[in-house]
Amino acid sequence: MDLRMRKGRRADLPIIWPATLQTAWDDLPEDERKGLDRQAWESHFRKKIEQYVEGNRTERWVAEGPSGEFLGYIIIGESGFLTPEVHAFLYDIWVAPDHRGKGIGQALVEWAGDWARRRGHRKIKLEVGEGNGRARHVYEKLGFSAERRYMGKPLR
Ligand SMILES: CC(C)(COP(=O)(O)OP(=O)(O)OC[C@H]1O[C@@H](n2cnc3c(N)ncnc32)[C@H](O)[C@@H]1OP(=O)(O)O)[C@@H](O)C(=O)NCCC(=O)NCCS
Repeated sequence: MDLRMRKGRRADLPIIWPATLQTAWDDLPEDERKGLDRQAWESHFRKKIEQYVEGNRTERWVAEGPSGEFLGYIIIGESGFLTPEVHAFLYDIWVAPDHRGKGIGQALVEWAGDWARRRGHRKIKLEVGEGNGRARHVYEKLGFSAERRYMGKPLR
């Protein structure tokens, strides 16, 4: 698929916000999601991630098709925690449902890697839900491997 990357604009936010919130919602562990009210959770979580979705901690890049159609986006920036070295961090990736399975997700992840290389990063990281088999497949196919496992146990 022929795609062109352009910087995200404010006018893209009505697509980006619901998509990002849906991805985060779908990634919640089942036992946590079932006790939540969706709207209350959204207003809580929106505030937490606003600086990443709209602010200058990240860049938003949109993939457009040949006629300017919105194919998907990435939210990319930097993150460092365990070591002094800051790595590129792919905060979010989303492909429009009608365009999934055509290689766009893979192209976006590869583009994110190039973005990181251009900035001199030696590594790109991301976080993915354990149950998100499709995303994990794309990442692993492109050379990402699990480094840490985020674990939880409901207490009774
Ligand atoms: C994850 C996502 C970005 C992938 O985009 P995409 O354009 O469909 O990806 P591609 O077409 O490049 O590749 C899809 C691959 O997943 C595989 N796949 C599809 N469903 C799968 C599943 N349930 N489990 C494992 N692999 C799966 C396809 O076979 C294909 O692999 P292949 O090229 O080796 O055949 C897209 O599905 C999406 O936007 N999902 C919702 C948002 C999301 O979950 N984002 C990730 C946040 S960490």
